[in-house]
Amino acid sequence: SSDPLVIFTPSGKRGRFPKGTPVLTAARQLGVDLDSVCGGRGICSKCQVSPGYGQFSKHGVTVAPDALSEWNAVEERYDEKRGLKEGRRLGCQATVQGDVVIDVPPESQVHKQVVRKRAEARDIVLNPSVKLFYVEVTEPDMHEPSGDLERLRTALAEQWELKKVTADLHILQMMQPVLRKGAWKVTVAVHLGDQENPPRIMNIWPGYYDGTVYGLAVDLGSTTIAAHLCDLQTGKVVASSGVMNPQIRFGEDLMSRVSYSMMNPEGAQEMTRAVRDGMNALFTQIAEEGAVEQSLIVDAVFVCNPVMHHLLLGIDPFELGQAPFALATSGALRLRAEDLDLKIHPSARVYLLPCIAGHVGADAAAVALSEAPEKSDDLMLVVDVGTNAEILLGNKEKVLACSSPTGPAFEGAQISSGQRAAPGAIERVEIDPETKVARFKVIGSDIWSDDEGFAEAVASTGVTGICGSGIIEMVAEMRIHGIVDAPGLIGSAEQTGSPSVFADGRTNSYLVYDGTDKGGPKITVTNRDIREIQMAKAALYSGARLLMDKFGVDKVDRVVLAGAFGAHISPRHAMVLGMIPDAPLDKVTSAGNAAGTGARIALLNTDARAEIEATVRAIHKIETAVEPRFQEHFVNASAIPNAVEPFPILNS
Ligand code: FES
Repeated sequence: SSDPLVIFTPSGKRGRFPKGTPVLTAARQLGVDLDSVCGGRGICSKCQVSPGYGQFSKHGVTVAPDALSEWNAVEERYDEKRGLKEGRRLGCQATVQGDVVIDVPPESQVHKQVVRKRAEARDIVLNPSVKLFYVEVTEPDMHEPSGDLERLRTALAEQWELKKVTADLHILQMMQPVLRKGAWKVTVAVHLGDQENPPRIMNIWPGYYDGTVYGLAVDLGSTTIAAHLCDLQTGKVVASSGVMNPQIRFGEDLMSRVSYSMMNPEGAQEMTRAVRDGMNALFTQIAEEGAVEQSLIVDAVFVCNPVMHHLLLGIDPFELGQAPFALATSGALRLRAEDLDLKIHPSARVYLLPCIAGHVGADAAAVALSEAPEKSDDLMLVVDVGTNAEILLGNKEKVLACSSPTGPAFEGAQISSGQRAAPGAIERVEIDPETKVARFKVIGSDIWSDDEGFAEAVASTGVTGICGSGIIEMVAEMRIHGIVDAPGLIGSAEQTGSPSVFADGRTNSYLVYDGTDKGGPKITVTNRDIREIQMAKAALYSGARLLMDKFGVDKVDRVVLAGAFGAHISPRHAMVLGMIPDAPLDKVTSAGNAAGTGARIALLNTDARAEIEATVRAIHKIETAVEPRFQEHFVNASAIPNAVEPFPILNS
């Protein structure tokens, strides 16, 4: 009769194998994703499977109770020492005896899916740059003299098909005692290499190493540096942390940092040192939080805007401050932690995502990786709002990108009562249609200003100002209730019927909150504030509109708001302002920190790195500064919501 049929689930892969074939071998031959660190020696237990018995009508097989071999001594020993879960077998020990259906549980899959919080988000497939391998090395022999490293390399080639593995000096310095302590059995962490680098030994432990190795996904922003520390074997985030970017002392925004480097001969170097120091402080902090030795951090991925990118690398950002905004390189970079003075594992690898253009950085590439417009059937508009808005528009057919200078108004800067998003800042606003008086909520409290208990709720923070999302809601509410007209003028108290409006020099202002009796501020919206918001939102909208022109469409299917700010904007208010194009409100979603997510994807899945490099090469870059249509759109978009564009969905 024919050989037994082996069916693996969930993959559905199947094939016939001679009796006595280990399950792990069958899996390997069928390309089934089944993990192994010890190479089938019954030590690591990563190869666990759950055989199913009985009738499988779906697969057309009946599995007899003796379809797999009985437990052998290795499996018995493993079970005694560490315990195998009910129904589990070690795939490297159990052999095929008859037709069988074998389930590979998620934890035994190498390329397991890493669960993400958002339901609609893409899952991350685990395929890290560094993996662990248990090897048995031949002992040295007087008659056949060779180095320990050479025999280790041979073992890796023979037992794991890892060719041309290299090792740094620091591995050589520690290797000999480890080999002897482990009686020539060791576990090595190998960086699997990439198109530019051969595989490389990152660490070595005597015997079977039951631990793991880690990587960092770093979102290097101009204001804050945030990092996730991830377990490279499970994909789990073990700690997350952030620090202020110490470069802030050289200038709040990017252009002032570029000018600092222009004015000061050592300016760029100073800023490079500052950001690297900040990074090292963060890494120490996050390693402590995760209770992880810094030397176990073997890979790191960075996403950042072009200016931060250059300053991190120690490249003067001078050229980015002037047309034609040439990057030193737009390609992805593969470096060593040492090159950047980073205090993690000395030969840890560092990967920088590619930049899209001089104004559209690796952070935008990371957003593209996270939101994947190039895989979407719907036409997606993705906006990452900061002092520069990075905008992507695309679907399966093509993706366009541009950046638009929104300025710092959305971050609360240049707004009379504006402030950064922090406890005490007004973030939600409603204007009463009858009284035309505003009520609001501040960050850190859930009670509306006109509700009972508000005074107690804000006792510790006070009401300090209006943050970016608050000012957007404020201006939109003022427009909805006729306090501001389409061109952006605040009407008088008589015209608007609002007791909150007061004459303020030659224009009118709107009083949101008067805390002066409690020693607090008087929070108002002036006509100049409205102008600032008009400029910022017009820049954002005209960038998006320009991309729509280039794409040849006048509407989009979906809008994704990325970034911390995007997560807090109310879609309806953004649309009332005409900040984003008209779209069904339920199709406007927030992606949270999409750049950080993109960094995490690139860290955990090396295939995603090649993918984003190809995507970025294919993105059409549009330079807003040289497009006459941009100016035209900008003028129209200064009106609220827009002088020429109808917003049919919003108005329906
Ligand atoms: Fe390690 Fe089976 S492969 S125990």
